[in-house]
Amino acid sequence: MTAKRKETILQVSATNQEQWEEVLATKGLTVVDVYQHWCGPCRAVISLLRKINNELGDDLLHFATAEADGIDALRKYRGKCEPTFLFYGGGQLVGVLRGADAPLLQRMIVDQLAKEKLVLEHGGQRKVVVDNELALDEIVEQGGHQLSEGGDGIIAVPASKSYTVAVIKPDAVARGEADEIITKIQDAGFEILARGERTLTEAQAREFYQRKATEDGFEDLVQSMSSGPSHILVLSKPDNSSDAVEAWLRFIGPADVDEARRRKPESLRAQYGTRTPFNAVHGSEDANQAGRELAFFFPDPRSVPGTARDAEEERVERTLALIRPLAAREDREEILTHIKKSGFQLSLQREVTLTEEQAREFYKHRVEDDDFPALLQSMTRGPVLALVLTREDAVRHWKNMLGPSDLRRAKEEDPECLRARFSAEGDPVNQLHGSQSPEEASGEISFFFPVQQTLAVIKPDAVDQHKDKILQEIRDRGFSIRRLEEKLLSRETAEGFYKEHRKQPFFSQLVEFMCSGPSVVMILEKENAVEEWRATMGPTDPDRAKAEFPDSLRARLALDVLRNSVHGSSSRKRAQEEIQSIFGEPTGITETSDEHSNEATLDEQKQQYEGDTHESNPHSPA
Ligand code: CMP
Repeated sequence: MTAKRKETILQVSATNQEQWEEVLATKGLTVVDVYQHWCGPCRAVISLLRKINNELGDDLLHFATAEADGIDALRKYRGKCEPTFLFYGGGQLVGVLRGADAPLLQRMIVDQLAKEKLVLEHGGQRKVVVDNELALDEIVEQGGHQLSEGGDGIIAVPASKSYTVAVIKPDAVARGEADEIITKIQDAGFEILARGERTLTEAQAREFYQRKATEDGFEDLVQSMSSGPSHILVLSKPDNSSDAVEAWLRFIGPADVDEARRRKPESLRAQYGTRTPFNAVHGSEDANQAGRELAFFFPDPRSVPGTARDAEEERVERTLALIRPLAAREDREEILTHIKKSGFQLSLQREVTLTEEQAREFYKHRVEDDDFPALLQSMTRGPVLALVLTREDAVRHWKNMLGPSDLRRAKEEDPECLRARFSAEGDPVNQLHGSQSPEEASGEISFFFPVQQTLAVIKPDAVDQHKDKILQEIRDRGFSIRRLEEKLLSRETAEGFYKEHRKQPFFSQLVEFMCSGPSVVMILEKENAVEEWRATMGPTDPDRAKAEFPDSLRARLALDVLRNSVHGSSSRKRAQEEIQSIFGEPTGITETSDEHSNEATLDEQKQQYEGDTHESNPHSPA
């Protein structure tokens, strides 16, 4: 009996809306265990909560249990049996934890309580969160309504649902036919999950149709798609009654308008198309393409479909991780193994030796901290390994793995955390950095990985046999192709292009080879594009490529060191010069973070003609 009374005191119980509102009205931080009537509150954590309560003994910390079945505001949690803890500050949701992960729960309670005290005692701003799982469920429930009113926005499609992206193209919209087409779509039994209006720029149209870049008529297509507003629809069939992609492709008919009129006179393209490429409507060709097109038109990372587990969509997010010089030298592999095992995808990586100015710039918000001089020293004593880590909720997960920033606290309170395990002798500063918030992550990622353009060439030996494969790989690795032309280089262009090699014994052979057949020349764009493309190509000499980077393009495709299939600019400066020399235009990117992107240091390290800059990008091309 006594134990029961204590439990009641530890956790206030709310089983209806009225009691729930009382819980929300409590001053301070309230940690709520949301449960289902049939399974009851999570008993496994009670002793932990009691321990925390005793240790912290704080009047501002409260615990509650809430029965989802009886509380309207928690209806979205009904039927979910995973233990869920909601953190409320001043009646507002400030944190969510799913699963009875005791160390994490403890850390979150301490962390959230400190934050709430900052708000209450020092006038700090409370950071309110939205439980994504709920937000997404609500949007799906509301079908297309919210989106059709608001235009582009978040769109979440359960992974189990078949959907397609349909576009009513500028030619039909300009003729005022969009509403009529939409009525026909609905009459044909399609469900509109989302709807928005977009006018694509030429560059966006190019990106949208990237896969057709080498086809005849590509330029006309780009022009027609960027000539005015399009209507974008995300369509499915109710109850998944049939495959939405196939049903829509059947409904619109063949891409060629004449063929549509001949073979499928009832199709939309036969009725509304005028002449190719003005064929009125577009549809994704398969489910993968539908996923890419959805992300293209509705780029909110919370909504990338296919990453979701049915109704349990989570937010796919990126964070910046840094392994400081001493640990990068001693413990790199072990740390990378931990990262991979924890479900992170290593999206980008780069090894950089920062100057003092660059380190100051990166940590400018910490300049007043007592340990700032030590931090500067720690950051500049050798190469730092910068990583972009991707997974759902990446920022929070990585911070949890790191543990407290203060090394002494990390070792005492959380000896298993990465900072405690991988500290470096002789350095009082922790060896690992993580972004504090998704907003900070985005700034920090562009500091280390600014968006760049580079020149890529598919050389004459590879154009006939490997062009499609290479273009596919370029797309798969997330590059955007900003320009693409197939052309036979003149001797003059080839000599100018390779002028820095004119003293090399192989120069005349090289020029001869480059003029021996057409090349495909491209401007590629991506974060850290210059190094990323060089890593994708692999070393200049295919023998070395095979030995060290067997998955790289040159390892797989090159004939020999001369006929090595692909070319890529060796530095950002060379990229600008080469793009200018081939396309007669400067790169479309001005990197505002030039001065701190550390490119100058890397450029100095780069030896121009050998493809051996991979040392600066430890990223295996795999
Ligand atoms: P690329 O990356 O385009 O830059 C210069 C090119 O010169 C290189 O690829 C090769 O095609 C060629 N090259 C470099 N080294 C040699 C060599 N030792 N012998 C012949 N050709 C070479």
